[in-house]
Amino acid sequence: MLFRTTVLAAFALVALIIVPARADQIVIRFSHVVGTNTPKGIGANLFKEKVEQRLAGKVRVEVYPRSQRFTDDQVLLALLFGDAEMAAPSLAKFRSYNKSLQVFDLPFLFKDLDAVHTFQASKTGRALLDSMAPRGIKGLAYWDNGPRVMSANRPLRVPGDAKGLIFRIEPSAVFQEQYARLGVVAIPMPFKRVTDAVREGLVKGQENAWSNIYSRRLHKFQRHFTEAGHSFLGYMVVTSTAFWQGLPTDIRIELEAILAEVTAEVNRLAGEKAESDRRKVAAAEGVEILRLGDAEREAWRQRLVPVWKKFETEIGADVIKAAQAAGAGR
Ligand code: SIN
Repeated sequence: MLFRTTVLAAFALVALIIVPARADQIVIRFSHVVGTNTPKGIGANLFKEKVEQRLAGKVRVEVYPRSQRFTDDQVLLALLFGDAEMAAPSLAKFRSYNKSLQVFDLPFLFKDLDAVHTFQASKTGRALLDSMAPRGIKGLAYWDNGPRVMSANRPLRVPGDAKGLIFRIEPSAVFQEQYARLGVVAIPMPFKRVTDAVREGLVKGQENAWSNIYSRRLHKFQRHFTEAGHSFLGYMVVTSTAFWQGLPTDIRIELEAILAEVTAEVNRLAGEKAESDRRKVAAAEGVEILRLGDAEREAWRQRLVPVWKKFETEIGADVIKAAQAAGAGR
């Protein structure tokens, strides 16, 4: 009897392992590139938890962090080909799908995070969520990470200090132009390569949010950080239009409600996370964080703001104006 029970239990276990989902269960594969202890990583896991509580048996969410399946360059195509159902690339990664989204990359455009949020909630900001529809991508929500901070192997106090360095950048035409104006050679690279590139000395600088810097241990290899307040790292949670429209209405409505709750939570904790990860980096041996004074910040602003003009036609003067109306930095 005991033998029979054990065998049955073993079969049940094997069945659980090799039959991961009921045939009629919807599976959402959420692919992202950062660590689990970052605002996006926490958000993706919270989304999974809530969906699997409230839509138990109907929807299952698989989260693939740290570029396990796709880099940001690959994931949008993966959504279109049905190899993933959700992702949240940084707002700097959408240029091939809609050029207006580059508005978020413009240096010193937003005065602070409130201005970013006001713009995102505005008519123009909400329209940008739908701006990739002709390419089959649907924007569902904006998620925060935090201010981008520059790091290098020497202090960057004035714009001239960066001249001659090689920087890793996200694949953004705006960032390319921004760093060209600083005399920097900027190499676009997927996020998963950043730590190696910095450790091996292939690049001498980079910029990112505190949670990415801390979770990727970039402060172990670069000691000098500059908070110029020039840029903010945020995300768009995206899916494919075909997938989203194909969901049963009641499930789609519940998923949207869950996503709204998760968005509020991610955006609440992102600020706390930026502060706490900044403190941990600051406490590391040999680290120096330069928080620029008004005059120093103004020098960076003067150098970088001309980048806007170059992208005005691509982005749309009306979009830039709407962002300025939300509380611009200029
Ligand atoms: C991310 O936060 O998703 C990565 C941003 C980057 O590529 O640096």
